[in-house]
Amino acid sequence: MRPDQRRPLAGTRAAPDFFRLEERAEFAPELVVDVLHGRRLGVIFRDVIPEAARKESVARFWASPARRHREGEPSHYVGSYHWNKSTETYLGETAEVVAHVRGVLDVPDSPWRSFRSQLAEELARQDAVIRIAEHQGAQACPALIRAWDKAGRFALEPHEDAAQCTDPRQAGFEIQAVLDHEVCAVNMCVEHEEGGRLVIWNIRPDAASRRRLGIEHTGFSYPADALDGFDELRIDVRPGDVYVFNGSYVHAVDASTGNRTNLSFLMGFIDDRTVVSWT
Ligand SMILES: [Fe+2]
Repeated sequence: MRPDQRRPLAGTRAAPDFFRLEERAEFAPELVVDVLHGRRLGVIFRDVIPEAARKESVARFWASPARRHREGEPSHYVGSYHWNKSTETYLGETAEVVAHVRGVLDVPDSPWRSFRSQLAEELARQDAVIRIAEHQGAQACPALIRAWDKAGRFALEPHEDAAQCTDPRQAGFEIQAVLDHEVCAVNMCVEHEEGGRLVIWNIRPDAASRRRLGIEHTGFSYPADALDGFDELRIDVRPGDVYVFNGSYVHAVDASTGNRTNLSFLMGFIDDRTVVSWT
């Protein structure tokens, strides 16, 4: 083992009073704006998705002809993701699947639409907008709908969402400007059986740590023993919950039983007045 591989994970840690998830029983878009500005770690809104909208989202997801599952990978999904590929590949895959994604999202009382419209109203008060990220006339995917089914200690291995925004194959894609602000993960839980807590560790790894682990442009995954000693949050997630958190902190989904189905996207400011989203 080279000496630098023994060095613990390095980076930035939040103050203890910052390192918590605010919990509310009603949606409050001003708290989401706080997360976007780095003024709070995250927020979870409990049971804010109407039951009929959840059930219809779940039914459409499992019935979708665009649902994909790769053996050895932890999820079924409808949508596309930019992780570890070129901008062109991501946007090309998005174009092929976006109508199916919209089909799953566009249920009566759509949680995706109500989140976006209420957040847009709040941002408008600050002369800011939210839109889907774009590149040379092509749009990013509006959401990725995923169900985890992986056994083991983690259903989704520890990772962070900032490293993937440094991929040289995506140079010039506007999402990379989010790194000057905060990368925020949005998740809407429409189906959940047991377990599958959200875990967040109090560490934003630096570039040198990522390089040592060979995950410079992916942020995936961090070995569990590298995370020993950092404070962690474990948050129970239930159907109907919507949560938003700063994706630069290492996070994971712990072991779950049965289906844990989420609508998700990433978002962040790219300048003082523009929030873009992607998957
Ligand atoms: Fe993530």
